[in-house]
Amino acid sequence: MPSVLVSGAGRGIGKSIVEHLATRGWDVIAGVRKRQDAAAVAQLNPQRDMYARHIAGVKKRIPVSQKLAVPAETVSAVAEEALTARRPRARYVVGVGPRLQVALMTNLPASARDRLLRRVSGQP
Ligand SMILES: NC(=O)c1ccc[n+]([C@@H]2O[C@H](COP(=O)([O-])OP(=O)(O)OC[C@H]3O[C@@H](n4cnc5c(N)ncnc54)[C@H](OP(=O)(O)O)[C@@H]3O)[C@@H](O)[C@H]2O)c1
Repeated sequence: MPSVLVSGAGRGIGKSIVEHLATRGWDVIAGVRKRQDAAAVAQLNPQRDMYARHIAGVKKRIPVSQKLAVPAETVSAVAEEALTARRPRARYVVGVGPRLQVALMTNLPASARDRLLRRVSGQP
């Protein structure tokens, strides 16, 4: 089934479109502004149960991700450095977490990398 992004999905026409398509098996990404609307709309997705453990794993890892997050000011400073460099690099990796991730992605064999990523991101 194709994917669709529906904005204004908390009520009215948007909500109806989400209900209509989700119950017919579409992969619906619903845009809402309120947390309670997100919870209500999420219940409409029949695939949600299938990914419940994945979602729980990601939620569990959020505090760790927040701890590892690089402050926006640091990223902005690097962006300025890139914009003003005489010879800018193709990529700028900012922060210990992303550096480690790039190193592992580049140097580990695919199967070991997948195992590690599953573990780190809390996936079953
Ligand atoms: N009803 C009709 O017969 C009809 C006919 C033709 C065209 N339309 C048009 O279709 C659209 C939807 O109609 P509706 O009756 O479903 O309206 P609605 O019941 O008022 O719903 C509007 C939706 O848009 C969201 N929204 C409003 N402003 C937003 C913003 N600035 N950023 C993000 N989301 C925003 C609302 O989110 P919140 O719940 O968070 O406020 C809500 O989910 C409107 O543009 C309307 O003019 C409606």
